[in-house]
Amino acid sequence: MIMSVITTCSKTASRWSLPRCRQMLKNSSYGVHNEASSRGFTPSQYRGIDYLREARLYKGTAFSLAERQTLGIHGLLPAGFRTMEEQLDLCRLSFSRYSEDLNKYVYMMELQDRNEKLFFRLLTEEVETMMPIVYTPTVGVACQKFGLIFHRPRGLFITINDRGHVYDVLRNWPEPEVRAVVVTDGERILGLGDLGACGMGIPVGKLSLYTALAGIQPHHCLPVHIDVGTNNEEFLNDPLYLGLRRRRAHGNVYEALIDEFMDAVVRRYGQNTLIQFEDFANRNAFRFLQKYRNSYCTFNDDIQGTAAVVLAGMYASRKIVDRKISDHTFLFLGAGSASIGIANLLVKAMESEGTSADAACDKVWMFDIHGLLVESRKDLGEQQEVYAKQHEPSSNFAEVVKQVKPTVLLGASAAPGAFTREVLESMRNNNERPIIFALSNPTSKCECTAQEAYDYTEGRCLFVSGSPFPPVQFNGKTFHTGQGNNAHIFPGVALGVIVSGTHHIPDDIFVTAAKSVANQVSDEDITNGALYPPASRIKDCSSQIALDVIEYAYRNAIASTYPEPEDKVAFVQSNQYSFCYDSALPVKWTWPKDSCRIAQDTNILKG
Ligand code: NAI
Repeated sequence: MIMSVITTCSKTASRWSLPRCRQMLKNSSYGVHNEASSRGFTPSQYRGIDYLREARLYKGTAFSLAERQTLGIHGLLPAGFRTMEEQLDLCRLSFSRYSEDLNKYVYMMELQDRNEKLFFRLLTEEVETMMPIVYTPTVGVACQKFGLIFHRPRGLFITINDRGHVYDVLRNWPEPEVRAVVVTDGERILGLGDLGACGMGIPVGKLSLYTALAGIQPHHCLPVHIDVGTNNEEFLNDPLYLGLRRRRAHGNVYEALIDEFMDAVVRRYGQNTLIQFEDFANRNAFRFLQKYRNSYCTFNDDIQGTAAVVLAGMYASRKIVDRKISDHTFLFLGAGSASIGIANLLVKAMESEGTSADAACDKVWMFDIHGLLVESRKDLGEQQEVYAKQHEPSSNFAEVVKQVKPTVLLGASAAPGAFTREVLESMRNNNERPIIFALSNPTSKCECTAQEAYDYTEGRCLFVSGSPFPPVQFNGKTFHTGQGNNAHIFPGVALGVIVSGTHHIPDDIFVTAAKSVANQVSDEDITNGALYPPASRIKDCSSQIALDVIEYAYRNAIASTYPEPEDKVAFVQSNQYSFCYDSALPVKWTWPKDSCRIAQDTNILKG
């Protein structure tokens, strides 16, 4: 509803009139809901019927008889009862009946709209099966089909037409206690390019993982899409496209909108509100990170989250390849946000080993769509120039691999199949245990498959991909290769930052998170072919990252939650979401003395 109201308003005036929209919102059922929950989420302020309508309150057949009678919803549900565990079994069954991943995604979104607790419990219990659905790779398809599958608003859409009123739009968000915002402008969604407003699926998916993997309260999370138009011709001509139908705004107007958004978030929710940037185009991603990192609590997941996950993989690889980070030679395919972010953090790690910054940069080679990054190139950005080499230009990647002889090959190019047989065989010829990161998402954009990496390196590689691959068969053995996805990092970092009230996020927090993940990789994980803990252990991993981040924050005086908790484990747990239903009964509710009627009803229902 909020979406259609805003869209209607946007259609009628380029800078829509806020009072009029407010009135429309008030008249809508969504507006009524806003009024209730903006006063804070106090169950006593809800009528019984709200427990059937509100996803956060709804338990379906798990409402007990006492709850049904006390809330006045007795008779509005079928007479039978189910426990949460029985409901979960049913959900698993329903989920498994869909053969198409996109339908599974739609099922999960509908479950979230209907019964939030059940959704998160299912997601957290079945991370390995469900994460590839609500997150990469399926979320990529969901974004592409956003216009088709959109049913209900989830997240806040701020458009270029809202300039001067961003704070007012934020105030329309019904939750008063937001602690974390994930924001995108949809210009570089995964490796799929400019998806405009359809990119909203990314902040929504990321924040689902905030809760499922780190236990961050769902009502503390706000997904935001900043709609400044799209340059995607197909979408501009597609009647199903739901975003602003105009080309992307850029320059000062765009910049001013993002500035206003950052200020509005702090004004509305406080200085400590975490703002995670997601899937902005490379040129904007770096600029905004540099601009805001010291004045807001912010990080860029594509740059810093990805970097930390790769660094974690490198630390974990030391269990097999006994080399310091500075003893490796790195060659990147792609010189965008992800690659530069990874390279910068690797350099930082090498510096901490005692290597000079210049010597560390010499260890890092990059190759982008125009070829090897060499000093004679005139098209390089400031961040890329650092890694340009005094070398002949080359546009033949396989040849560069032969010349440079990297020990670690990293792909963040969204160029599927770019790690060809020839490239992988060179890695095999030059290294006893070649390390290969094929990070591009979704799966269709990956530089090589896990099976190809094993086949062409005689099974000697340590392989990491951005999206999951099925187990690999090689020489009669099965390998479960790891997913080097920033989902290993960002939920835990976010939890640590939020609960400690950290104002700014220095790079060292990501080095801390990387070490934390690597420490949790077991010998068995490595033997199985993985450089990361499996998805089923990401939750434990996130809690440990949060603890390490909190320790770091207090040690370095950047935490603002006082007093410093003595028992940090208990402190983290006390801030985490409960994946069990809460009682809908008033806290001090006891069975009335004369409970005959209820007892009788119980018998009737059981009978
Ligand atoms: P970006 O757009 O900033 O950079 C892409 C880079 O790839 C550019 O330097 C471009 O010149 C280069 N490139 C494109 N086609 C190429 C080709 N055929 N040969 C050589 N270079 C080519 O994008 P960003 O943010 O760096 O992301 C790149 C990929 O990495 C995406 O697929 C994204 O999904 C993935 N990624 C994966 C993450 C993970 O956790 N596994 C996290 C962040 C990004």
